[in-house]
Amino acid sequence: MSGPPIVLLPLASHGDGRGNLVAVEAGDGLLPFEIRRVYYIYGVPEGQARGMHAHRRLRQLMIAVAGRVDVVLDDGCGRSEVTLDDPAVGLLIPPMTWREMTWFSPGAVCLVLASELYDESDYIRDYDDFRRFTKNDSGA
Ligand code: TYD
Repeated sequence: MSGPPIVLLPLASHGDGRGNLVAVEAGDGLLPFEIRRVYYIYGVPEGQARGMHAHRRLRQLMIAVAGRVDVVLDDGCGRSEVTLDDPAVGLLIPPMTWREMTWFSPGAVCLVLASELYDESDYIRDYDDFRRFTKNDSGA
């Protein structure tokens, strides 16, 4: 079965002879949510996967601001894969989407813009639970 759509948002990059700068600003119309939290993942040992959870309500934009991050998204019906390796492209991750960051290149930095404050009760960390919740949501 096919997985969820991969929604990649191009971020305006201001480049000149000095390098590049990307800005994401509240009210700029880019994101379908207001940013309430920012975090980043770095220093991931080679071969180490991360994520392996879904969120009930949280929306996120994930950006590989350095290096390359391979991501799998799963909506309970299928899996989609995407490689993030452009600091001027963000991956939109909707609620109720299981995500796995399956590979980080050495030195990769994965920046996440998030719609909610950190809330452990928003996490679904068990894949079987996630499948059960998505089945109930789809009325299956
Ligand atoms: P974790 O959810 O395991 O990271 P991953 O995205 O790889 O699944 O989070 C690692 C640790 O960081 C865990 O102890 C929870 C903490 N954490 C916060 O304190 N605030 C945050 O915003 C996030 C995302 C995690």
